[in-house]
Amino acid sequence: MDQVRIGVIGVTGRGGLAQHWHDPSGRSTVVAGADVSTLALEQFRERVGSDVYTTLHYQELLDRQDVDAVAVCSPDFTHEEYVCAAFQAGKHVFCEKPMAITTAGCDRMLRAWKESGQRFMIGFNMRYMNIFRVMKDVVDAGEIGEVKVVWVRHFVGHGGEWYYHDWHGASRHSTGLLLQKASHDIDMVHWITGHYGRRVVGFGSLDYYGGDKPDDLVCNECDERDTCVEYQYTERKANSMNMCVFRREVDVEDNSTILVELDNGIKLTYMQCHYTPDYCRNYTFIGTEGRLENLDDGTNVIVKMRNRSNRWTNLADQHRTVKPAAGGHGGADPLVARDFIDMVLDGKEPLATPIAGRMSVAVGVAGTYSIRNDSCVVEVPPLKQ
Ligand SMILES: NC(=O)c1ccc[n+]([C@@H]2O[C@H](COP(=O)([O-])OP(=O)(O)OC[C@H]3O[C@@H](n4cnc5c(N)ncnc54)[C@H](O)[C@@H]3O)[C@@H](O)[C@H]2O)c1
Repeated sequence: MDQVRIGVIGVTGRGGLAQHWHDPSGRSTVVAGADVSTLALEQFRERVGSDVYTTLHYQELLDRQDVDAVAVCSPDFTHEEYVCAAFQAGKHVFCEKPMAITTAGCDRMLRAWKESGQRFMIGFNMRYMNIFRVMKDVVDAGEIGEVKVVWVRHFVGHGGEWYYHDWHGASRHSTGLLLQKASHDIDMVHWITGHYGRRVVGFGSLDYYGGDKPDDLVCNECDERDTCVEYQYTERKANSMNMCVFRREVDVEDNSTILVELDNGIKLTYMQCHYTPDYCRNYTFIGTEGRLENLDDGTNVIVKMRNRSNRWTNLADQHRTVKPAAGGHGGADPLVARDFIDMVLDGKEPLATPIAGRMSVAVGVAGTYSIRNDSCVVEVPPLKQ
């Protein structure tokens, strides 16, 4: 095979990754799309071409012999079913993060993958961003000694816009937001340190979003739309991104703090809040010989301080500027798409592996369980071999 023919499930939103795969004279081409929305499929045909096959039933896409690989870019609660069905149909699979909304679901996906003999990759695009690759290089080179403590704070300043106006806000669809943005952050800590979480304790609550508005209320039709600070007008979108953020069904924490012990004893403190006015994603790694921090992923600056040479003083601060590459998510999206094709055609191991996908979900689920159960300490279920 010298070209991968791709079918996309969930064709708008994250399904936009298709643009990086659709190169009919190159190594990959998009031949099919499945979605539950006819509007989404119409927009997909406008982007990819009128000859692309489209269907409202994902199994029809999986039944096609001209589809070699499937990209599952639909909401989180669909991943397990679609990925397992894709492996049963003999397809290679790209699955967006979070891998699934339960740890047991991830384990079923891993089993289906192993049984199929096909290839599998998770959409952890942060692993492909220059800023975090540099941070990993600094840690791997031992520049800050042995990492002992990690601190991550994530101000998800678009929390209402991204997570509470649609399906993410209900736990039956997402389990909780420690599996959303946090699945990237947990994975970054796993990847940069080279160690997975083994014990978690969490604190969190739903303090700002949620409320007593009807579940079917949408911003466009709301009487309070002229005064509501969370009002969001949505036009001609395939998904329902303007449900009221104060509706009854919203039940996922809008602020969460988890403490995680990694398998080599590293301690991680992680905080995410969804109603901050600003956006910030800040990682600090403290090692036996220094400290590494990204000031902000917008400014792309790294500070490294060695606090020990001959004496315990700050001897050197280094600020390193890291330029993002061109393309979505700081240049990561084209690289993610390429890694998937290299994996399918050349057998190259991708940066974002399914095992990493499972471990990130397992830590997020454990943290969510702890938050909802009196902050009990939860052991992360180990991987079954
Ligand atoms: N890696 C990243 O940076 C990144 C960024 C955003 C989203 N994501 C992930 O991508 C996935 C999709 O997120 P999104 O924000 O694009 O979602 P979305 O709500 O915009 O939906 C994406 C598409 O899936 C379709 N869809 C909805 N329900 C479906 C179903 N049951 N079966 C098939 N298609 C269905 C929608 O109509 C839409 O076209 C999620 O798992 C999310 O976590 C990853």
